[in-house]
Amino acid sequence: MVARTIPVPPFDLVVFGGTGDLARRKLIPALYHRLRAGQMPPEARVIAAARSDMDAEAYRRLAEDALAEFVPKDYLDAAILAQFLGTLDYVRLDATADRGWDALDRKLTEGDRISAFYLSVAPRFFAPICERLSKLGALRRNARIVVEKPLGRDLASARSLNAQLSAVFAEEQIYRIDHYLGKETVQNLMALRFANALFEPLWNARHVDHVQITVAESVGIEGRGDYYDRNGAMRDMVQNHLMQLLCLTAMEPPSAYCADAVRDEKLKVLKSLEPIDLGTGAEQVVRGQYRGNGAHSSALEDLGNQHSRTESFVAMKIAISNWRWSGTPFYVRTGKRLRARLSEIAVFFRPAPHSIFPAAAGKPGRNVLSIRLQPHEGITLGMTIKDPGPGGMRLTGAELDMTFAEGLGRPDLRMPDAYERLVMDVIRGDQTLFMRGDEVEAAWAWIDPAITEWEERQDARPSPYDSGSSGPEDALMLLHRDGRRWREIAA
Ligand code: BG6
Repeated sequence: MVARTIPVPPFDLVVFGGTGDLARRKLIPALYHRLRAGQMPPEARVIAAARSDMDAEAYRRLAEDALAEFVPKDYLDAAILAQFLGTLDYVRLDATADRGWDALDRKLTEGDRISAFYLSVAPRFFAPICERLSKLGALRRNARIVVEKPLGRDLASARSLNAQLSAVFAEEQIYRIDHYLGKETVQNLMALRFANALFEPLWNARHVDHVQITVAESVGIEGRGDYYDRNGAMRDMVQNHLMQLLCLTAMEPPSAYCADAVRDEKLKVLKSLEPIDLGTGAEQVVRGQYRGNGAHSSALEDLGNQHSRTESFVAMKIAISNWRWSGTPFYVRTGKRLRARLSEIAVFFRPAPHSIFPAAAGKPGRNVLSIRLQPHEGITLGMTIKDPGPGGMRLTGAELDMTFAEGLGRPDLRMPDAYERLVMDVIRGDQTLFMRGDEVEAAWAWIDPAITEWEERQDARPSPYDSGSSGPEDALMLLHRDGRRWREIAA
């Protein structure tokens, strides 16, 4: 069954870099799914703009191949496919030269139709594309611009990118994607916190012992050695995805579920983060690099640089200095080639203050609320219950499980990819799940000193860890020192 949704108004979506990896893997499949769900109107037009010498027909073939590769067969339907391919067009265009811009202008629909310009290109092309668009007069239309990371590699470059975008577009027209914000469970975190009265009274340092945020990947650096060697896990994952998850977990209730109210609260969290302690460094931040084994290459091999100090793993202890969280650490970790693919936020509540049970019953366990982003999206709550049976009072652990597909009685439920929601939100003009410029800058301002200090400490190297493990020993020590343990990384 296809879930029907309210259609968005007709639009022109121009994808710069429309032949690239992101377009093939994510955007084309996302748009296809939205058309199939009845949300993308058939009069919408998707215009890919890129340097390759091809025409619209050839582009449709490229899109068809991408759909065959990235959409499961069960969802491919000949009639819908034909309709979808009919929305696609192509213009050969050079971001930094004259070629193609007039042709693009002719293809854009006149009038008030929404036009969205998706810059799926390297950031150095943002400014030239924005300038051309402004000259085209494209901005007289109901226009918006979509950009994606890397949004800078430090505070100064992030500021400069923001300035380039703001020179042409108003903040209300700029959609900065962090695809983690489009994940189903991330929004469910907001529903869990603010649509239920149960947890909010407990959501503070008095009742929460600590929080663990894990984004573990089983894949390695793959073919992205060059990009990755310039960025590492700190810039690639922590500055954006992990910071966003931390903000949504820690923020105060916004006054309304709307873009500026939510973003104001996230910004306050970023501004409340204690500076990273650089005195000793090692106590708060652990960096790692995976080793190779018989089956897999090492990070150094994947980076194509035997001397690289770029980290494929980071674990950090973060303190938030505000009334709600003072005294409750947030531990975050992310890494490649770990034991399993797992992204979750785990909230560890404080233990019961006193046990009334005899020693033979065992100790009451901790209540841990786990909000799992992937795989098997859902929420579980670890409880202590009585072991069933007549053997006397024995305590044991059990989980209240709210795996969404099962909880909703729809085991066949398809979780839409983040890009499906985000692209439709761009068209709807809803910026709630997009980062505002000041948020991006605040995250860089906080993380920059740690990156700079690392880059200057030429003698320091990331700690090696085995492929398929939970990361380096030092990361375990980060919690052991505080009398705590990481949750297991298990799919
Ligand atoms: C991207 C990073 O932003 O997120 C990648 O650049 C990473 O290195 C990816 O693999 C993880 O995203 P997801 O949605 O697969 O968890």
